[in-house]
This record gives sequence, structure tokens and C-alpha cells, in this order.
Amino acid sequence: MEMSTNIGPQFQEATKYGRGRPVAQAPAWAAPPPPYKTYQEYLERVELPGPRRAGGAALWSLIAQRRSRRNFSGRAIALEDLSQLLWAIQGLSGQVQDIELRTAASAGALYPNETYLVAQAVDDLAEGVYHYDVRGHALGMLAEGDFSEELAQACLGQRWLTRAAAVFVWGAVVARCAWKYQNRAYRYLYLDAGHLGAQLQLAAEALGLGSCNVAAFFDDEVANLVGIDSHTEVAVYVTAVGRV
Ligand SMILES: Cc1cc2nc3c(=O)[nH]c(=O)nc-3n(C[C@H](O)[C@H](O)[C@H](O)COP(=O)(O)O)c2cc1C
Repeated sequence: MEMSTNIGPQFQEATKYGRGRPVAQAPAWAAPPPPYKTYQEYLERVELPGPRRAGGAALWSLIAQRRSRRNFSGRAIALEDLSQLLWAIQGLSGQVQDIELRTAASAGALYPNETYLVAQAVDDLAEGVYHYDVRGHALGMLAEGDFSEELAQACLGQRWLTRAAAVFVWGAVVARCAWKYQNRAYRYLYLDAGHLGAQLQLAAEALGLGSCNVAAFFDDEVANLVGIDSHTEVAVYVTAVGRV
């Protein structure tokens, strides 16, 4: 399909909030979409070590030194570090009434972005594609094997990705956010993903690891790789982490 030249401004205009203009339809409050994606069965379930919730490197130093790093060595990262990274972006950290809050902000606390992981070099973790089970702080294997080349090709041939230790992929379950915000939800999916990528970069820096965000990818190829149906779940963002 050819990319329409004016779809961007049209989208921006059509999803504006304006005075005297209805904001959004009231959602069906009684029937919210499920806040978590669940699988009937994972190929394997890997319980993650408990994350540290205190201490760590000083924030101002991390902000000062954060950089996009692509010169990964290919050496493995520890499972403890992977656990810490997952917790730093999606871990449960609070509760308001029956809403479970997470470490990164999300519009309306709806958390539409599911985290997938392409594990390429992580100690004690088989190479493969995983889904992060937020509630259980566990990884569920979706496919086993080396997907590094396929992933790099899906990201427009960015071959430096093959030397990353773990590549995070976010897939947004559109209905989870559109239930409340309708078409404006498409702004929020991306804003939310931006928070995840930014927070992940700082967390990686805190662990002495390199990271780089990636938005240049063939959408359907990335969606296929992590096993999501691109009609209901949109591949929005990718962040690679590794040793430099
Ligand atoms: C939304 C977004 C998409 C990006 N996509 C890519 C990408 O596909 N490939 C890449 O090598 N870097 C990508 N980057 C990294 C930028 O090139 C990088 O952040 C920028 O050059 C500034 O450098 P710094 O992050 O080291 O400060 C992306 C960054 C953002 C925020």
C-alpha cells in the first residue's frame, strides 16, 4: 500500500481535542478490556529473579551519560540484569483501587503496550522470543531459536542488532487504549512506548549496559517475529540492549 502523503496532518487534525468539540465518547465503563494479555500456554515459563527496588546509580549522572550505543560486543548479559530492565519499564509498583500501576507512566493507566523480548545472549535463558508476564514477573517462551538475523532484517537490515544481548519489542493492544480514547488512542500508544524506551535506556545505563531505540522497521515483519496479529496489536517500538 502506498503511504498517503497527507495522512499525518489529517490524523493530527481529526484527533485534536478542542473547545466546543466533543472530547471522546464515554467508554463502556462496565466492560473494560482486559489489562493483561494472557496465553493459553507458553513453550516454557522462566521465573525471573526479584528486582532491586532501591539504590542504584545516581540519576543525574545517568541522564548526563545516556547515549544510543550500537557497538555491542555480543557478550551475554546476566538474567538478573534482564529482570531489572523488565521491572524498570513494566514492573508493578503500586495500586489505586483495583488498578495495578507500573514503573512507567501510561495514559489512563491502561498500559496498552505488551513487552516481547528477543533473547540473543542472556545467561541462563535459551535464545528465543518471549512475552513478559507483568503480574508474574516471568518470561513466557513463544518460540525457541536464534532470531537475530531475522530481527535485523526486519529492522531495515540494521545488522548491529545481531550483536545485542536482548531486544525489546513493544506491541500495542489498540483496543485496550481505544476503549477510552477512540482514535486519539493512537497518539497515546506511541507516547507510552516512548516512555518505555526512555526509561529502558536509563535503566540499561544504570547497569553499565548499552542501548539504542529503533523505530525503523518493517512493521508486519516485526509483528510476525513476535507472533502478534497486526490488525489488533501494533508493533510500535524496539529497543536493543547489550554489552559494549
Ligand atoms: C523514536 C526513535 C527512533 C529511533 N530509531 C533508530 C533506528 O532505527 N536506528 C538507530 O540506529 N537509531 C535510532 N534511534 C536513535 C537516534 O538516532 C538517537 O537517539 C539520536 O541520534 C540521538 O543520539 P543519542 O540517543 O545518543 O543522544 C532512534 C531514536 C528515537 C528516539
